[in-house]
Amino acid sequence: MPPEHAEVQVRAGSEADLEALTDIYNHYVRETPITFDTTVFTPEQRRSWLRSHPEDGPHRLLVAQDVRFVDTNPAVGILGYVTSSPFRPKAAYSTSVEASVYCAPTAAGRGIGTLLYKALFEALESEDVHRVYAGVALPNEASVRLHTRFGFRQVGTYEEVGRKFGRYWDVAWYERPVNI
Ligand SMILES: CC(C)(COP(=O)(O)OP(=O)(O)OC[C@H]1O[C@@H](n2cnc3c(N)ncnc32)[C@H](O)[C@@H]1OP(=O)(O)O)[C@@H](O)C(=O)NCCC(=O)NCCS
Repeated sequence: MPPEHAEVQVRAGSEADLEALTDIYNHYVRETPITFDTTVFTPEQRRSWLRSHPEDGPHRLLVAQDVRFVDTNPAVGILGYVTSSPFRPKAAYSTSVEASVYCAPTAAGRGIGTLLYKALFEALESEDVHRVYAGVALPNEASVRLHTRFGFRQVGTYEEVGRKFGRYWDVAWYERPVNI
């Protein structure tokens, strides 16, 4: 069981986190339709993704870690992570980002997602970001509730937009102003 929130630190992600973050992501790639990636990654294959989220700017990577390990072992006690990434590549979309959040499987349902989103939105307030989007493959009650709690509004659903595990999945799109 993960520790209480006072014992969790949210910090910028770094290359030392690469293996732990890849492990978390691969769990959802392998076991769930939550992400539409269908084959697992090696840490090396995720390095460019990690490097595309520097410590400042609109495209962030924040990591929740058990504080007992923050100074001693950056690879241990990683409870989850959140990113803001480019929404679309064309220039006029630069004020929009897509948020993505993953808890370690053993750390889900204990407030870590809430902590990560809170930190992400605080960080984005000082950036030139106007709108945040999130795509939620359905069903995913925890994610729908998290986005609703953070003031996201569902703006539509792409029906049967992805195929994984031999069936089609809908994706609900959520939108939120950075400042609400
Ligand atoms: C979605 C996720 C990030 C939410 O983070 P979390 O730490 O589990 O959620 P929190 O404990 O902060 O709770 C946030 C809300 O989700 C609800 N919730 C959490 N786990 C839930 C579950 N298993 N079933 C239903 N609701 C759940 C909480 O009750 C809370 O709702 P409320 O605000 O209405 O009270 C996390 O569950 C996760 O990593 N899931 C797998 C990956 C994923 O789905 N990522 C999102 C992709 S769009």
